Order: sequence, then structure tokens, then C-alpha cells
Amino acid sequence: PSANIGVVGLAVMGSNLARNLASREGNTVAIFNRSSDKTEHLVQAHPEAEFVPAFSYEDFADSLHKPRTAIIMVKAGKGTDAVIDALVNVFEPGDIIVDGGNALFTDTIRREKAVRETGINFVGAGISGGEEGALLGPSIMPGGSDESWVTLGPILKSIAAIAEGEPCVTHVGHDGAGHFVKMVHNGIEYADMQLIAEAYDLIRRGTGRTPAEIADVFAEWNTGELESYLIEITAEVLRQTDAATGLPLVDVILDQAGAKGTGAWTVQTALDLGVPVSGIAEAVFARSLSSHPEQRAVSRELPGPSASSGTEFGVTAQDAETFIEDVRLALYASKIVAYSQGFDEIRAGAAQYGWTIDLGAIAKIWRGGCIIRAQFLNRISDAYAQTPDLPVLLTAPYFVEALGRAQDSWRRIVSTAAAAGIPAPAFSSSLSYYDGLRAERLPAALVQGQRDFFGAHTYKRIDKEGTFHTLWSGDRTEIEAEDTH
Ligand code: 6PG
Repeated sequence: PSANIGVVGLAVMGSNLARNLASREGNTVAIFNRSSDKTEHLVQAHPEAEFVPAFSYEDFADSLHKPRTAIIMVKAGKGTDAVIDALVNVFEPGDIIVDGGNALFTDTIRREKAVRETGINFVGAGISGGEEGALLGPSIMPGGSDESWVTLGPILKSIAAIAEGEPCVTHVGHDGAGHFVKMVHNGIEYADMQLIAEAYDLIRRGTGRTPAEIADVFAEWNTGELESYLIEITAEVLRQTDAATGLPLVDVILDQAGAKGTGAWTVQTALDLGVPVSGIAEAVFARSLSSHPEQRAVSRELPGPSASSGTEFGVTAQDAETFIEDVRLALYASKIVAYSQGFDEIRAGAAQYGWTIDLGAIAKIWRGGCIIRAQFLNRISDAYAQTPDLPVLLTAPYFVEALGRAQDSWRRIVSTAAAAGIPAPAFSSSLSYYDGLRAERLPAALVQGQRDFFGAHTYKRIDKEGTFHTLWSGDRTEIEAEDTH
């Protein structure tokens, strides 16, 4: 056997990952695809790559030296289970099966448990960076056993993106930890994209600037604290002209955003964990709202802000610069909230599933290769380096300063949007989250009172230990009660 690593599934992501692997010193790559034409095509198209093509699972296993290591790159779902079963049949104890797709982490936990019974290692690895990342260097989030990491670590380090001299891969934690972290990465990706979209909408409707002019604004932002891949590609998209109509491309794209599910998973999981990822949730819901044309069609005549309320939107040319700077700061503050919420979910997930996850290391491996790569992630890893058990990321000194600097602008933008009738769900919910955290007292006290009134759900007091209930339908005196939560 001559190959040290194999790839199963040769659609674009799999082919690119196989080519990336083959391009690195020391790797020889076995490749297999269910239909052989893809395998043949990849070998023919890339004579420079050291591929060992296989046309059956037996050949594939024979071409790998031990411990055999294979990365599955097929569409997440039933197909993954079928490939795992086939590999388990031809692999031996100590070998390693890696699922590089966007699997749901609970599936990964289930698969890891089942595969482990055969003595084979199963690793769920999140891979981010799209097609280009797979080819040139993705950010990789592997879970699985410590044993598998010994063999897999050097291979994954050889193909990962490099950020400030460090490969963007770390052993995230056991079993489903890698896919969990990749899921939250995608949730943050949704929030980041929605926030950028809201910023664009406000600037466009507020100042009347064209998409190409707004592209310049984003390009400018990309030289400062907002520097990131998503800001960079936003400028590119806004600058694009449609060849058929001569219009800005963004004006001819149907305004209904798709989703393949990882954002929704992030929110569903957060609901189960009781983690308030409100910014991420708004981003997922904003895509759902956009994708209901029938509801939007019947709602178009709903009353908007009346002209007489003096809230007609429009920023004068002189004020445009100030307004755009306000939008930039609102975006930055909301972005800090989205990341803080995402890291909160990872912290809670780790506690729930018994993973030891180094949050600072996660920030570091997201600095390169992945869709949410950004300058800003250095600040997050600094924050965790200083205080590893930081309960709320946005209370780290750097973020406190940034939020202090941004908050007046943030408030102006959220109120301007509300008064003008422009939806800014992610901006506004992020601000509400921020103010909720800051609040000395929350109206949750009243909610507890209501719960106690109709359901005797009890409450705690600020001034003494114990659990209490007011006899609402009796004489309204208070009694000590059993804690029912
Ligand atoms: C990445 C991306 C990628 C993901 C899409 C899905 O990290 O490279 O997250 O894995 O497939 O971005 O997003 P949609 O749900 O928007 O299709």
C-alpha cells in the first residue's frame, strides 16, 4: 500500500480536498467515488497529483497503509451512513474514518459510538472555506478520539490554511465536538452576513448611494477593524454589473435567501441549551421571512411610517459620512454580540456534552481559511488567553472599549431604522441583548409574578433564601413553597 490518506466522494469539495492533500509533501492520496467516471476524470485532469485511484472499497482499503485514514466528502445525511458502513467492512481496528461534511453533531456522536464498537476511530471534522478553501487551505475543526488525532493531526495541519504562521486546525474535542463547533461557525456566518446586508440596506435607502458606491464604502471598511473575508466579498458582489441588463447584479438577484440548515441547527441547539443566540436567530428568521413571497405579496400594503410623523428617511449629502460611520459602528457592535453569543453556545455545548474545548484555540483556527475569517478573531483569542473562563465574551476589556465607542451610533441606527420602517432585525436584537445583559433589574421579575399567579409556579425573593408562592385566589398572603422552577 502506498497511500497515507484517502478521500471518498469526489464532487467539487472532495476533489479539491484530494488535490490539496496531494499537493503537500509526504502525502499520497487514495481516491474513490461511487461512480468511477469522477475518479478517472480527477486522475486525468491532474497528472501532477500523486493519486492512487481505487474502483472498489476493497481496492481503496488495500491502497492505504496502516492505520488507514480516509476522509469522506459526501453530502451530509443517509449517504454518509452508507459510506461509513462500506468503510467499516474493509477497515480494521485502529483505522480512522473522517466525515468532512456538514453533519449534525448529534449524528456524529451516534456514528462515533457505533464505529468505536468495531475498534475503528470515527472523526467528525468540520471543514470551512468553500471550494477554494478545500483546494488552497481550509479551516478544519476535527472532533474524535485522541488516538485518531495522533495520525490525523499532521495530515490536517499539512492542508489547513495558515494564519500568522499557525495552521488553522486544532483537535476541538471528543466525538461530535468538531461538528458542533462547525455548526456554530455557520450560525455566526449567518449573523455576520445578515448584519452586513442590513448595513448595506440602510446606507442605500438612507443616502441613495448606488451599489458600486457602497462597494467603495465596504472596501474602505475592509482596511479597518471590520477587515474580514465577508466584508471583502460584499464589496465584490456590490460592484458586479449584470451583463444582460446592465443593472447592478444585486438588483436583479431574487431577494429570497436560501439556507441548507446549519444556521437553523445552531438556533435549535441553542434553544435546547437555553443559550440566547438572538442575533443568529434573527439572521436565520430573516432568511425565512425573505423566502415567503406569498406572505410578502399580501403584506406590501401594510401601513408604514406616516409622512406627517416627520420620520421620512433620507440623509443629506453633508450628513452621509456621519451616517455611514454610525452604520459601521452599529455593524461592529452587533458583530461583537453575534460572536459573543456563538462562543457562549460553544461553552454551553461543551459543558452539556462533556467536551473540553479551548475557546481561544477556536478563535485562532477561524482566523484563516473559513468564511468568517477576520482580523477581529485575534481580539477574541487574546480575550480568552487573558481570562480562559470568561463568562461573556463581550465583557473582555477590548470589547467593552469597542462597545462603549460604538453604542451611541448603534442606538441612533436602530432608532432611525425603526422610525423609517426599515427592517434591521439583527441590529436591533443585538442591541436589545446588550441592554438586557447590562440591566440592573429585568422585567423577568414580573414574568415570575405572572407565572406564580396562574400556575403557582413559585418565585424566589431578593431578600431571603427559599421558594415562595402568593395565595393569589385566597387572601394573597405569601407562603413558603416547594421549588418547581
Ligand atoms: C463554510 C460554509 C459552508 C456552508 C454554506 C452553507 O464554512 O465553508 O459554512 O460549509 O455549506 O455556507 O450555507 P447555507 O446554509 O447558506 O447554504
